[in-house]
Amino acid sequence: MRPVLVLNGPNLGRLGSREPDVYGAQTFDDLSALCRETGRELGLSVEVRQTDDEAELVGWIHEAADSRTPVVLNPAAFTHYSYALRDAIAQRTAPLVEVHLSNPSAREEFRHTSVVAAVATGTIAGFGMRSYELALRAIADTGE
Ligand code: DQA
Repeated sequence: MRPVLVLNGPNLGRLGSREPDVYGAQTFDDLSALCRETGRELGLSVEVRQTDDEAELVGWIHEAADSRTPVVLNPAAFTHYSYALRDAIAQRTAPLVEVHLSNPSAREEFRHTSVVAAVATGTIAGFGMRSYELALRAIADTGE
């Protein structure tokens, strides 16, 4: 099975209790299970990680770049200002899909900018946990 990393940035470990009106009632464990199950159906071996630490997330992107592993990435708040993350993403060659649970473009002004979108393969936002499912399908379809 093709390996895929599903990487999540700050505060996403608090899904379920964090602003449920925006992010829903399902927990991070529910999200991980959904990603692994979707991966099984698509012939992908999915590993899900979450960190609140920018350096750790950058390190995981380096790891994916070196091993040419496709990535589904929810950079969370780092989306809007982390040039370090953007520069790490620019180094990889395998597909990387930026995902968001909510639709940042329909929210506060500061969320309208993504510094990573221009170096991602594509972006899927606004479908709740289905955003991850759609991203995994996109990666499965590329075959890369
Ligand atoms: C988010 C949107 C970001 O603006 C926010 O900082 C998050 C979650 C989303 O999945 O909708 O933490 O990436």
